[in-house]
Amino acid sequence: MLTVAVLISGTGSNLRALLEAAHGAGFPARIIVVGADREAEGFAHADEFGIPTFLVPWSSFDSREAWGDELLRQLDVWNPDLIVLSGLMRLLPPAVVAAYAPRIVNTHPAYLPEFPGAHGVRDALAAGVEQTGASVIVVDDGVDTGPILAQERVPVHPSDDEAALHERIKPVERRLLIDVVRRIGAGELDLAAASSA
Ligand code: GRF
Repeated sequence: MLTVAVLISGTGSNLRALLEAAHGAGFPARIIVVGADREAEGFAHADEFGIPTFLVPWSSFDSREAWGDELLRQLDVWNPDLIVLSGLMRLLPPAVVAAYAPRIVNTHPAYLPEFPGAHGVRDALAAGVEQTGASVIVVDDGVDTGPILAQERVPVHPSDDEAALHERIKPVERRLLIDVVRRIGAGELDLAAASSA
């Protein structure tokens, strides 16, 4: 059974979808811990499902590296098979990527390599595109530059603001993420192979 650690920063709606999927019979992965860089609302979902959580507050450290070292210490307590970044609004420090790559995947609310970075939804709107998308990628040392494991187009409506577009993207992200985690757990998706392709 694939063990999964999920890292969040926000509402955790993607985390909740993964918790519900993993709670279902026959899902080949289980979430063993949820971590965050702040007191994320999404912790409530972990609490509801009885999943342990840990907090590595960004504001308590004087450098990304120091924050990363503590994050790594917390992750190593659990030693998950897979780390899922689901709304973590921090770039993982190289030491964390090096310790777990390629067993780290991330969801991104755009059709990568279009609109990478922390404001993918806002950037797509500003660009005036008719369609954007959702992507699940392997995390490497870059910003949303890792190999793409799954992605799907999402239409942009003329009336969209950032929130409306993001809420249309998230259900697609959740479906792609759950399927990627299921495929990894079922041995149908080899992250090492995907990363060396
Ligand atoms: C998701 O769209 C994720 O891709 C992005 O932030 C959002 C997190 O949403 N990085 P939630 O916290 O899962 O609701």
